[in-house]
Amino acid sequence: MSLLTQSEHWQQLSQLHEQIQAEHMRDWFKQDPDRAQKMSLSACGIFLDYSKNLVNQEVMSALLGLAQDANLEVKRDAMFSGDKINHTEHRSVLHTALRNFSGAPVYEDGENVMPEIEDCLTKMQRFVHAIHSGDHLGYTGKPIKDVLAIGIGGSFLGPKIMSEALKPYQTGKVNVHFVANVDACHLQDVLAKVSPEETLVIMSSKSFSTQETLQNTLTTREWFYRSGGQKKDVAHHFVAVSSNIEAATDFGIAEDNVFPMWDWVGGRYSMWSAIGLPLALNIGFDNFRALLEGAFDMDQHFRTAPLADNMPVIMALLGIWYRNFFNAQSYVLLPYYHYLRGFPAYVQQLDMESNGKRMAGEQAVDYLTGPIVWGSEGTNGQHSFHQLLHQGTSTIPADFMLPLKVPNQHQVQHAMLASNCFAQSQALMQGKTFDEAYAELVNTSLTDTQKACLAKHKEMLGNKPSNTLLFQQLDPKTLGSLVALYEHKVFVQGIIWQVNSFDQWGVELGKVLGNQILSEINSASVTKSEFDASTAQLIDLFRQSTEE
Ligand code: F6P
Repeated sequence: MSLLTQSEHWQQLSQLHEQIQAEHMRDWFKQDPDRAQKMSLSACGIFLDYSKNLVNQEVMSALLGLAQDANLEVKRDAMFSGDKINHTEHRSVLHTALRNFSGAPVYEDGENVMPEIEDCLTKMQRFVHAIHSGDHLGYTGKPIKDVLAIGIGGSFLGPKIMSEALKPYQTGKVNVHFVANVDACHLQDVLAKVSPEETLVIMSSKSFSTQETLQNTLTTREWFYRSGGQKKDVAHHFVAVSSNIEAATDFGIAEDNVFPMWDWVGGRYSMWSAIGLPLALNIGFDNFRALLEGAFDMDQHFRTAPLADNMPVIMALLGIWYRNFFNAQSYVLLPYYHYLRGFPAYVQQLDMESNGKRMAGEQAVDYLTGPIVWGSEGTNGQHSFHQLLHQGTSTIPADFMLPLKVPNQHQVQHAMLASNCFAQSQALMQGKTFDEAYAELVNTSLTDTQKACLAKHKEMLGNKPSNTLLFQQLDPKTLGSLVALYEHKVFVQGIIWQVNSFDQWGVELGKVLGNQILSEINSASVTKSEFDASTAQLIDLFRQSTEE
């Protein structure tokens, strides 16, 4: 058994879990009218109500004990101060430096990283201004109308999803199109809509070695040449964001057109860097800066609030409670805001790529780690997968999110949206008893046996946990705080589970095998003996279809 599962707090939580099975949140709310107020807190424009969770004070104290046992505060400070906490890659983890507005230096290997970050922000600001003002023109002298942002994973999801979330703040000066997949269908669709003379291509790849991004950029450059662009014109139309400047310049991108990235920023934590350039072009530099300021505010909250009042810590501990003691396989994100519909996919990468690990230092874990993250916008899900949330057999904690005000608000529809959001968490919590379901059938023509049978199907056990996050308005600053909230939540869980939240070795094998299969597909002779029979058969079928 690991030290974690042997620890006093873990053992105590196991016992509390047994006891709590017999209780119902419905009763807790009746017994304590102040429960909601006691289990709510506000930080950085975000109001969190976590009272509809299967926790009491004893559970919360034991969970906080786990955080203390893990030396959370010391480890948190180590991250902010640039210690090499990504130990498998010997790297610091300094995405927080990208939004450090404290004026204090941040050191990595004895060097203050802030001047480079500030230079990069200035370069981004100038570039955004040049594109928006028309100072930077295409090679035929036309202004840039479209931006094609090519990247994948962390070099794509942040700018794309935050652009959608901030649609009301888009300047409209350029249309930004995002392409990630190596499936050419997407790229072709976008290229068919834009003109090479008026399109800026931003190639975002920290490593500059990601197959999808390299190939999509190559195909786009061919399209640019085919449409009349010359080698000398590439500088007007192609820029890159990468930590691999040499590879970017070898690819043909002018050195001046390369925006920097650093080893100490992980891909899924990189939207605060120049990876956010397409977003800054979409919403304007001032709004991009406000996003960084919001994240900085959440950093300050995370660093200074006592653990018991610390929003990311509370959310992380609740997640641990369900994952490790209720065996919850997943949690669901339910944004009740159309523009925030991509947020579950963003948190999916953030959480699953960070904490989907099985090694704690040199030992394999003997407890569950990162959960599956999924979800989509409300109210749509209410008419599909919410059925399973309400009556399925798994515990699936939910995070509901709703802005209280939205730009150009349609009062009638917004009230409907809010009432649906609140009703869902209420229904999950209270459920419907057998007696309540039976009472609804009293005046029907069913026999008593039929009524009893149907009432069993209509019964909802309730006691299903959820958080509700409300925002006054989801402006750039609040969105920045929201993203940083989930980053820190994932960090806290990684510390308690003792996994390295900042590497991603699990994605590497697929890349290597993909390249081997590609060369097999492209080779003239068949060497399929290297492959297992199933993979060889699939390769064969593909080759035959291309030969037809
Ligand atoms: O393959 C996983 C991954 O490395 C992610 O961690 C990263 O966000 C994405 O690919 C893109 O990587 P890059 O920015 O180096 O192209």
